[in-house]
Amino acid sequence: MRVLVTGGLGFIGSETVCALYEAGHEAVIVDDLVNSKIAVLDRLETIIGKRPACYIVDCCDLKAFREVFQKEKVDAVIHFAGLKAVGESVEKPIEYYANNLTSATNLLLLMKEFGVHNIVFSSSATVYGIPQRVPLKEDDPVMSATNPYGETKVMIERIIEDACAADKSLNAALLRYFNPIGGHASGLLGEDPNGIPNNLMPYITQVAIGKRPYLNIYGNDYPTVDGTGVRDYIHVVDLAEGHVATLAKLAQNPGLCIYNLGTGKGSSVLEMVHAFEEVNGVKIPYKFQPRRAGDVTENFANCDKAEKELGWKAKRDIKDACRDAYYFQQKNPNGIE
Ligand code: UD1
Repeated sequence: MRVLVTGGLGFIGSETVCALYEAGHEAVIVDDLVNSKIAVLDRLETIIGKRPACYIVDCCDLKAFREVFQKEKVDAVIHFAGLKAVGESVEKPIEYYANNLTSATNLLLLMKEFGVHNIVFSSSATVYGIPQRVPLKEDDPVMSATNPYGETKVMIERIIEDACAADKSLNAALLRYFNPIGGHASGLLGEDPNGIPNNLMPYITQVAIGKRPYLNIYGNDYPTVDGTGVRDYIHVVDLAEGHVATLAKLAQNPGLCIYNLGTGKGSSVLEMVHAFEEVNGVKIPYKFQPRRAGDVTENFANCDKAEKELGWKAKRDIKDACRDAYYFQQKNPNGIE
């Protein structure tokens, strides 16, 4: 299959491009470099052995985006492109709604215009809001998210659902990711945030290489195993492989389908710190801080549906992810340059 990958130079997008080639597919990347580097394309070429087609285009620019569809015939689309920083989305809600909703609707319009019928959308467990119960299942209610970033995921899911209801030839998978971490085994691809990391694993790896003095752990009074928050951390390569399995499902014309992509297992912040220390032989100093606004106590997935219907299951554990994340950080102390 020839697959258009928007945001294909990003953390999850680039890993998915690798997984596509690994499975014998081909990718056409569209990325505007707002949160990624062009050097990722060279790294993809090193890993894959050939250079994927790549267009530096903002999906909000309908004219430029249409030219990609005119030049490249594709069988399916995976839509990663979007702004994703939770805190920033609270400060700049209009920019988040404008960017994320416009790029998604442009993509759906172009798919219709050019007769592309299969789309995989990069959604998030954030659409479940504050979980009523864990593990979360796909038929648990989609709630109002706690920030504009999350709200764009809820809204785009809704837009895609309506598009599927109106057009029986459209196949769409909404993939709700839990917490992706880790990196490519080569150390060439990984998480490369701008500035101070918001998320746990890139913060830990920066502490590990001495770039930051200690980790702040937000909250040690949650009703969990050790008082720290619990999440479902999934290795990004497992996540990438989940997209390939989803494309095979879409080829069977299922219409709309929804899957959780996680491991089914929750780990606390302290468990992550200890796993990282053990597997990498480094010490991660930390300080407890008050709870972070908007954080939930516990969040992990029930992934039975993906296993049953996609034949996909996470194969790697948090130790694999801690090792690969650290290897990437060691090889790229200043990020991808
Ligand atoms: C966050 C977003 C989520 C988004 C996801 C992307 C919030 C509320 N949620 O998920 O919408 O889809 O990132 O990956 O921001 N922690 C620390 N110290 C740190 C960083 C994190 O203790 O420096 C703790 C958090 O309190 C939490 C856990 O680590 O318990 C995971 O945090 P994080 O990696 O930011 O992910 P989420 O908050 O689950």
